[in-house]
Amino acid sequence: LDVADLDLAALVRTIPDYPKPGVMFRDITTLIANPAGLRAAVDGLVWPFLDARVSLVAGIEARGFILGGAVAHELGRGFVPIRKKGRLPAKTIGQDYALEYGVDTIEVHADAIRPGDRVLVVDDLIATGGTAEAAIDLVRRSGGEVVAAAFIIDLPDLGGADRLRAKGVAVRTLIS
Ligand code: PRP
Ligand code: HPA
Repeated sequence: LDVADLDLAALVRTIPDYPKPGVMFRDITTLIANPAGLRAAVDGLVWPFLDARVSLVAGIEARGFILGGAVAHELGRGFVPIRKKGRLPAKTIGQDYALEYGVDTIEVHADAIRPGDRVLVVDDLIATGGTAEAAIDLVRRSGGEVVAAAFIIDLPDLGGADRLRAKGVAVRTLIS
């Protein structure tokens, strides 16, 4: 697989007016269906952290599971799912975050992250940063340290990466 000169952004499909009028939806299914695209994306999320003493990778439902699982495998670390509420079977802790209208909740198993864990948070995309911020709060409330948050795509106009940096989190993104 030759990933050297790959144009990752060209593998992202843009769907106008999804899920509602005016939104340009950045669809990574085309990128991850491409073997070189998947490898380049995972490599790009992994290599900055090879020497960062990450002890655990946390992926955010749903697309963060695909990427976070691969990142954890490459780093030789375990994977922890951060899920929408009601989907994890054991005792959980939850964190609310704002949606455009209303709130949603994400959860992690209460025993999944231990004090002293050094956690890399992974998702496909950061928009407003609300989801990632809630995930970071869950890691910190569990006693874990957030090494960084890593995404394939940043939508910089929505300010999410800046929002995470304001919380003291290092942010890695591959495409703006
Ligand atoms: C998308 C994306 C991020 C989040 C980013 O997931 O995968 O998790 O939104 O938005 P934000 O930065 O404004 O919080 P979505 O909520 O669509 O869930 P899904 O992956 O389960 O479809
Ligand atoms: N793509 C995927 N997820 C998203 C997007 C997008 O463009 N915007 C907010 N969440």
